[in-house]
Amino acid sequence: MAAVRTVHRCTTCDSQTPKWAGRCPSCGGWNTLEPEVGPAAGPLGRAATAVPLSSVATGSAACRPTGVGELDRVLGGGLVPGSVTLVGGEPGIGKSTLLLQAMAAVARAGGTALLVSAEESAAQVRLRAERLGAVHERLFVLAETSIPAIVAAARELRPDVLVVDSIQTVADPDLTGSPGSVSQVSGCASQLVTLAKSETITTVLVGHVTKDGGLAGPRVLEHVVDTVLGFEGDRYHQLRMLRATKHRFGPTGELGLFEMGEAGLEGVPDAGRLFLADRTEGVAGSVVVATIEGHRPLLLEIQALVGKSNLPMPRRTGQGIDQKRLGLLVAVLERRADVNLAGLDVYASVAGGAKIAEPGADLAIGLALASACSDTVVPPDVVACGEVGLAGEVRSVGRLSERLAEASRLGFRRALVPPGTRSAEGLAVIEVARLSQAVAWLDSAGPAPRLHALPGAAPAG
Ligand code: TYD
Ligand code: MG
Repeated sequence: MAAVRTVHRCTTCDSQTPKWAGRCPSCGGWNTLEPEVGPAAGPLGRAATAVPLSSVATGSAACRPTGVGELDRVLGGGLVPGSVTLVGGEPGIGKSTLLLQAMAAVARAGGTALLVSAEESAAQVRLRAERLGAVHERLFVLAETSIPAIVAAARELRPDVLVVDSIQTVADPDLTGSPGSVSQVSGCASQLVTLAKSETITTVLVGHVTKDGGLAGPRVLEHVVDTVLGFEGDRYHQLRMLRATKHRFGPTGELGLFEMGEAGLEGVPDAGRLFLADRTEGVAGSVVVATIEGHRPLLLEIQALVGKSNLPMPRRTGQGIDQKRLGLLVAVLERRADVNLAGLDVYASVAGGAKIAEPGADLAIGLALASACSDTVVPPDVVACGEVGLAGEVRSVGRLSERLAEASRLGFRRALVPPGTRSAEGLAVIEVARLSQAVAWLDSAGPAPRLHALPGAAPAG
């Protein structure tokens, strides 16, 4: 059972108040009030008793599935009762839609869910819920922006899941600042965290994210919650990606994939096919890479384009690819593989609005650039996988066998890989120890160059 918090003590002047406030009524210090739990309190209370780790019960951390498969995958099973999760994402990406669907699933499974809508009216929520098939008698809505009213309503209803959409539009009249300001966002969040822990209400806060990816409002928000989920994707594509960047109850890095359709978000279990669906074969600069996202292998298409530059400093533009990594690979190609990109603008992107952060994509990016530069098509049955070092060497990456098995499943027959890699069923490996070998393979074993076809020269092997 959760401990009852009866008093709040100021960490500066040691005075006590029964109710939490953003500002200490005695000394006027901001954010100095800390809740005191039970008999053994915070730093100024009596000394707490240490217990052997082996005797600590773990039962309370068991998670409950939300019923939205891809969300549960990212959470490592579901939401832990009494935990607080922050869902961040750009406006219009689908946060409200995802949470409404999850809450409807919770309600259908017998739980009670309360949606605090601080941005849309109850009627607007109802209209959306009808489109999503999410209207349910145990799904409650409260169109309210005042934190005391929200806390009171949640205490009365005692829902299993509480969603506050969004933390930037709620406010506490006792705090200074307008909604969305640092004092309001952190003050409101800590009251909701206190509520979640004391009443064991699983709480989800929605947070808008600025263009550069940071949460609008204070970063302190990320510290007070248990889990931070990021919802991303290209608003003009249907694909949406959900990732955990912080998770106290499980691993981070797992990727959830959704497609935004007429009836809301739908999970995408077979991600590989989705990303490769629009691929155009026979175009120079396109290489498929076998990456790992969380626990699952994912095949993505890298596209590169080079063109004569009119700038004193030619462009090196990456989309979904780290800019520095792209610059490094351009340098390695020039110095170690004799691919001359000087005076050329270089563009590289991941198709479908996806992002690649892992170095396992290096070889594919390097090969895509070389392919674009020489206008030589990489055969469509080839995938590439490997990290590239500054000396131009190709290094091994984790879980190669899983990556190759997925490539084989999706119909690929050859893989450019680091030396020592074992082949997968139905997939032959082409070992390349250096990036220059991959470039040489492209020139010799690849099909005849598209634009300057050599008469009578049949591709070898
Ligand atoms: P929304 O969940 O409101 O985004 P957020 O809460 O992150 O701001 O979703 C916004 C977009 O999703 C909106 O442009 C319309 C689109 N959408 C669909 O395509 N299909 C649907 O079924 C729903 C509900 C929304
Ligand atoms: Mg919204």
